[in-house]
Amino acid sequence: MERSRDVYGGRPRGFILWFTGLSGAGKSTLSQAVRLRLEASRPVEILDGDEIRTFLSRGLGFSKPDREENIRRIGYVARLLARHRVAVLAAAISPYRESRDEVRRLAAEQGIPFLEIYAQAPLEVLVQRDVKGLYKRALAGELPNFTGISDPYEPPEAPEVLIRTDQEPVAQGVERILQALRGRELLEPA
Ligand code: ADX
Repeated sequence: MERSRDVYGGRPRGFILWFTGLSGAGKSTLSQAVRLRLEASRPVEILDGDEIRTFLSRGLGFSKPDREENIRRIGYVARLLARHRVAVLAAAISPYRESRDEVRRLAAEQGIPFLEIYAQAPLEVLVQRDVKGLYKRALAGELPNFTGISDPYEPPEAPEVLIRTDQEPVAQGVERILQALRGRELLEPA
């Protein structure tokens, strides 16, 4: 029997990695890189805000109630999948602490491990990079309710992993996430 099966106690356990952070901070990049490392040995799904908003949350905007609803939906699907042993990587700005904590609480009630991963980079760096050109538009006043510019972001107070994405290479951030999973016995030892 391969070693991972022993460590997993026969079958891998589901869990939720919840990536939070400003637009462009690296949530999608990190989640995709983590997926590459996990998918050989177990089922993995990414729930990415940008994609979720074209299907599951189509029609929702960026007001506080709409963002809360978006996070509630992502959290709900994340729990469904995790219950069936999927490693769920959720990547949405999720700017409100209360919304994130609600997902954490509901996961805990079902015995689903939940790890909050904070992708952090200074706003100046994100404005400078501006991959999608959205910061420029937000600063010009063309995008109301833009997180970090004209809308709040409440940083996690005690994330399981904090990654300074403007300083740490992606590979190093990924290693620290995998280490956190090993620490919770959700991944076989390296
Ligand atoms: S969340 O706040 O509800 O968690 P989510 O992660 O789904 O947000 O979507 C964020 C993405 O939507 C951003 O990466 C960006 O591409 C796009 N977007 C469009 N308008 C806004 C806005 N006002 N604030 C933040 N992101 C926006």
